[in-house]
Amino acid sequence: MTSEQTFIAIKPDGVQRGLVGPIISRFEQRGYKLAAIKLVTPGREHLEKHYADLSDKPFFPGLINYMLSGPICAMVWEGRDAVKTGRVLLGATNPLASAPGTIRGDYAIDVGRNVCHGSDSVENAQKEIDLWFSKEDLVTYKQAHHSWIY
Ligand code: RTP
Repeated sequence: MTSEQTFIAIKPDGVQRGLVGPIISRFEQRGYKLAAIKLVTPGREHLEKHYADLSDKPFFPGLINYMLSGPICAMVWEGRDAVKTGRVLLGATNPLASAPGTIRGDYAIDVGRNVCHGSDSVENAQKEIDLWFSKEDLVTYKQAHHSWIY
């Protein structure tokens, strides 16, 4: 089984709305394994690094202020196709396109308050994991129900 890791973050609105539990449950229920988790309040510089690709977008300053508005739950989830499937669980960025049943489709109506972040490629996932976590934060263990999932 080729397993990959993805970086998932519950943004400040998700944490403040009490959605940490429901979001974690969706990844657990789908069969993904939690490899790292922490509640953090990163500074502006860290968030500007995270969203460096979007620095020329008009919504960039607002996005950074939104991300600075409270603690973020940073996580690494692991399993088959974790990056692509993670994005499916999150739902589309545009609220008009985010399907009911997805996290954004169930909990968000505003692109600027869209509850969660997920890596969009394996390469970016690795970069984001390296930015948000140190090697010691990542743990290895066996899922009890691994053979039923795969
Ligand atoms: P994310 O990185 O947070 O998972 O979001 P994404 O890949 O689905 O979307 P991306 O285009 O990378 O945008 C990053 C975040 O910026 C905010 N955004 N605001 N028009 C707007 O006001 C606008 N567009 C994007 C969203 O919070 C989006 O998740």
